[in-house]
This record gives sequence, C-alpha cells and structure tokens, in this order.
Amino acid sequence: MRTLKKISALRTECGKAVRPLVLVPTMGALHVGHAALIRRARQIAGEEGTVAASIFINPIQFNSSKDLALYPRLEVADRRLCRELGVDILFQPSAKEMYYEDCSVFVEEEVLSRGLCGASRAGHFRGMCTVVAKLFNLFAPDAAVFGAKDYQQLAIVRRMVRDLNFPIRIIEHPTMREKDGLAMSSRNIRLSPEARKVAPAIYQALLRAKANTGSPHQVLKKLRRDLELIPGVRMDYVECVPAISPESATHWLQSTVIAVAVFLGEVRLIDNIRIPQHRPNSLKKAANCSQA
Ligand code: PAF
Repeated sequence: MRTLKKISALRTECGKAVRPLVLVPTMGALHVGHAALIRRARQIAGEEGTVAASIFINPIQFNSSKDLALYPRLEVADRRLCRELGVDILFQPSAKEMYYEDCSVFVEEEVLSRGLCGASRAGHFRGMCTVVAKLFNLFAPDAAVFGAKDYQQLAIVRRMVRDLNFPIRIIEHPTMREKDGLAMSSRNIRLSPEARKVAPAIYQALLRAKANTGSPHQVLKKLRRDLELIPGVRMDYVECVPAISPESATHWLQSTVIAVAVFLGEVRLIDNIRIPQHRPNSLKKAANCSQA
C-alpha cells in the first residue's frame, strides 16, 4: 500500500495506476462498515485494478468546531486496516494540503441539500461536495463507493456527478449494522455506555415504522413518539422523502425513505429505512409528508 500525504505524489500514483481505479472516501475512524465499502471497491476493481481510499477529516463540512475537535482520530489503526484490506493507494492529507488559506471556490448543491441534515447542519453539504469534488479531481477514479446510511449525502453526490459531468460511477453500499441493529458509524465510539445500550432502539423504531401501514402522517407521529421514549434522546428530525433511484439522479421513484437524526448525549446519529413501493396509502404525498 502506498500512503501519500501530498497532492503531487497522489496525482503521479493515480496517473500510473492500473484501471479501474475505485475510490472509497472516508473521514477515518474506520470500522466494519468502511471495511465493507473497501471490499466492495475490490470486487469492482477486480484483482488487477486499483483500490484507493482517502482519510481526511474535512474541516469545512463541520458546522461546529466542537464536533470537529471531538471527531475520532485513529490514524495508525486506520492505516493498518487499509493495509489488511488490500488498499493500494491511501491518501491522508493535512487540511493545509487540501485547502489554500485563501480558498474561495466551493461546490454547492442547491435542492437536495435543503432539508434533513442540510437544514440542521448549515454548510455541511457545501463542505462535503467541495471535498468530494476535489477528491474526484485528484484521484480521477472510475467509480466511488458510498454508504447508504448517509442517504442524503449519497443522493447529493449522485446529483453533483451528473450536473458537473464527472465520468465516475457512484456505487451505493447498504448500511452496515451492529448485531443489535445500530447503524455503524465512526461516531458510535463516542457514545456513553448508557447511550450505546439504548441506541439500537433507533433502528427498532424504524423497523416498526416500516411495518406500520398507516398514513405517512400517522407513521411519522408514532415514530417520533417511539424515538422520544429512548432515554436521553434529543430529536433533530424525523422525515420521509421520496427515495432517489440508485441508478440515476434524474428522477424520483415512488418509494420513500424515512430518515431520522437524533442526539444521544452529545453524539448525533442518523439512520434511515426504505419503504417499498407497493405500500398502500400515500406514497404520492410522500414528498410533503413531514408537513402533513
Ligand atoms: O461520509 C463521509 O465520511 C464524508 O462525508 C466524506 C464523503 C468522506 C467527505 O468528507
């Protein structure tokens, strides 16, 4: 594995890499979920192709300096895991390497970023799009793998790739879960033991919402109530939105995603579940169901 910290070295390495080159962008604190993304990248790249990963805690996608400071940093363990997983190129730049002090060009998606995490984390998706666009320019990958837990991020990245004509296939990988159902996240290690114990209740509530055959309004109301019953929880949002087609960002499907964000103590957790198309009652109104 070649570990690179400089953009110039990365460009050289990617220039001579065997294609296809498949990228897994991360912010580190790697866990089994990331390992699954990297294994998926290897499947797509094949034995001969190149698997690349980036580890960069992108300061401009944090809307709170406290959240940025507390984000877990496990550089050595991350490098070891990447090596074990057969990553060929690892890019681990500093913030100084990635951003000029007076940088003034950013990438902003203006529609899909409005709600959900975009509403509660001002500037988050602008920072995310900017760094992902930079990584796409630097690696020039043939494909990139993103997890479905960050559902809105995935939809926005697809839209950016479409609108800015990046010749890159975006691969969605299903949310990886702990045995008790908690969605894997680098933030989970910051949960207190008490919070960790109750955190699986988020997914259990989502499963009940999926099984609930009521109207979107009824389903969301019950889901909110279920989430509020989790000890120590503070709600950020509970919403349903039309699911974007995994194949293309050019149209919306009739199926719906229920997405939630909650705080457990200081830790913000997100999760989502897809409600299938055949569901009775409603899906035409799904886009507005949070206001119902
Ligand atoms: O999902 C993440 O870890 C980050 O948002 C990403 C895509 C690596 C950009 O910083």
